[in-house]
Amino acid sequence: MKKELVEVVSQKEIARHIFELKVQGNVVNEMTSPGQFVHIRVTDTFQPLLRRPISICDVDLESRTLTMLYRKEGTGTALLSQKKEGEKIDLLGPLGNGFPLDELSQGQTALLVGGGIGVPPLYYLAKKLCSQGINVISVLGFQSGDDGFYSEKFAELGEAYVSTVDGSQGTKGFVTDVIKNKDLHYDLLYSCGPTVMLKALELQVPAANGFFSLEERMGCGIGACFACVCHVNGGLPSDYVKVCSDGPVFPIGEVVL
Ligand code: FAD
Ligand code: FES
Repeated sequence: MKKELVEVVSQKEIARHIFELKVQGNVVNEMTSPGQFVHIRVTDTFQPLLRRPISICDVDLESRTLTMLYRKEGTGTALLSQKKEGEKIDLLGPLGNGFPLDELSQGQTALLVGGGIGVPPLYYLAKKLCSQGINVISVLGFQSGDDGFYSEKFAELGEAYVSTVDGSQGTKGFVTDVIKNKDLHYDLLYSCGPTVMLKALELQVPAANGFFSLEERMGCGIGACFACVCHVNGGLPSDYVKVCSDGPVFPIGEVVL
């Protein structure tokens, strides 16, 4: 983990309120594990005080470039969306534990299920798995076609399906509808998205083997403040994990959703 002032290489809106931000810096050399995140200070004025966690979406080690995708939501991401090429951003990372890459062998199949702004970390994961000869099937869920992004990039890496709640792109409904209708077969499931989607996946495929990446509100991002604790399934009420430093990736079923 490093703290560095990285330089904005480009920033553009690629879907409704979804921004693609590319930054360059030496810290990028450490970003080899998909599912990890960075913690960004969005202004120099400590206003807002807290850093914002954003996932690693793609990395080009040769040019030391990190790609992040984020949804402009509140104060922090609105300020981030104003950053222009050449400006510096205070970035801390990479943080947390990413998706394990050694659970599958060449020729086996991974199912990647992403919902909304949970899709970005799965892109770097898909690239890594493909480079290891693992087949990747992706299912990406959005509210509508206007909110969707990167489906063609996932399609370059393997079978890719989209679901939208309003039916304006792909299957009408949820990612779980795609999994059911297409009768997808796979060896391991990786997913990131809203908790309600992860819960639905857990119910639909109760015996699923795999990993979920969780998004909890964070303070420090490094295990010091207890802002991000979650309870452990089957544990005592006092048993907990910290999403920032024990996760954000956990084996399916380990954490109470
Ligand atoms: P505000 O609502 O003004 O933020 C207020 C506070 O709540 C801040 O501390 C903020 O960090 C926190 N917060 C608000 N929403 C969330 C949320 N969903 N999850 C966690 N904290 C939240 N978003 C993306 O768009 N792209 C990503 O790649 C991405 N990766 C993430 C990875 C991790 C490990 C986590 C925990 C969150 C990730 N998020 C991602 C969510 C993102 O951090 C929040 O959308 C963002 O912090 C909102 O900040 P804001 O100032 O715009 O919103
Ligand atoms: Fe501080 Fe996780 S955010 S302990």
